[in-house]
Amino acid sequence: MAISAIIAAAGSGERFGAGFPKALIQLADKTLLEHAIASLAPVVNQLIVTAPAGFEKQISELVGDGITVVTGGSTRSASVRNALAVVTGEFVLVHDAARALASSDLASRVIAELKSGHVAVVPAVAVVDTIKVTNAQGFVVSTPDRASLVSIQTPQGFKTQSLRDAHAAHAEATDDAALIEATGGQVKVITGEDRALKITTPADLNTALTMLNLGRVIHTGIGTDAHAFGKGRPMWLAGLHWPDEEGVEGHSDGDVAAHAICDALFAATSLGDLGSNFGTDRPEYAGASGTRLLEETLKMVTDAGYEISNVTVQIIGNRPKIGKRRAEAIAAISKALGGAQVSVSATTTDGMGLTGEGKGIAAIATALVYKQ
Ligand code: CTP
Ligand code: MG
Repeated sequence: MAISAIIAAAGSGERFGAGFPKALIQLADKTLLEHAIASLAPVVNQLIVTAPAGFEKQISELVGDGITVVTGGSTRSASVRNALAVVTGEFVLVHDAARALASSDLASRVIAELKSGHVAVVPAVAVVDTIKVTNAQGFVVSTPDRASLVSIQTPQGFKTQSLRDAHAAHAEATDDAALIEATGGQVKVITGEDRALKITTPADLNTALTMLNLGRVIHTGIGTDAHAFGKGRPMWLAGLHWPDEEGVEGHSDGDVAAHAICDALFAATSLGDLGSNFGTDRPEYAGASGTRLLEETLKMVTDAGYEISNVTVQIIGNRPKIGKRRAEAIAAISKALGGAQVSVSATTTDGMGLTGEGKGIAAIATALVYKQ
């Protein structure tokens, strides 16, 4: 029973007022659209994104291969209809990119209800305000009983054929369930989640950011390392081999950048330092590459309940020149650290000190980690 998902991302975000489509707004490390994709991708078989006209290429590049991008319409319903045309699954989830933080668990619960036989499933949370119906003259017409009111979220789930029929019969509604209701279909309500809030204004983005960081404590650490150049030694630096460069002394590969990062991570997580974790009393690490030490450090940091936010390293020395291979170095370190954000910079010291005199090379690193 294949599951497709449509992520409606073709709105212009007028109320947010960023001057570009709301789905492309950055929330911490990802755009709203990427957050929505990250939640749905693990639980569906097909992903379709509706893009604002003119943004198809940019959004295709952002979401990568394997995700279908279709041009949205002038309303949300029209956008969903365009996407429905390419849905292949028996069931389909329709989700707002604007509800960027809705969890995979919520999507799974919607899918479970579909599999149990419901044609339409919507998540909902209780309404906290008293809701009143008003008229065009600005007067209250009635006050529905709050106990029976709920606030509806996405992802909403449907039997694909039922949603196609509903869209064919009724063109417009602010959500898809309303179209099912209009055709007389039953819509099952399940418990939604606060984090599935719809990001409409900049204040909502702040709320979402707070939710994302809720309960996370930030720790920082610093690490340094230095080695003297040594004749006939291969140069390993920042996870890379530098074939035309003389290497450094030391019983490891002498990768000062990797070692400084390991030390920064140990400092941030109070797990000791390079010597206490990989020192001479741990013979299994003798001659270990910088990359291997980064991988081992990641494992220890993760086992201790931390997540790496980012690391930075500055290499201090006259050579090698880092600039040309910066991207390669960042990729190598990031890979060893499980995809963490990495920055690599380099400097000289105006001819002063150990590295300025060309006797060796040093590195200073920082790390930022989260503990849940
Ligand atoms: N949407 C869409 N196609 C449209 C309009 C909206 O795919 N023609 C999507 C939006 O990208 C959003 C979701 O539907 O993810 C819910 O819409 P809303 O939060 O209103 O977003 P916008 O329409 O972009 O915002 P605004 O109404 O403030 O312009
Ligand atoms: Mg809108």
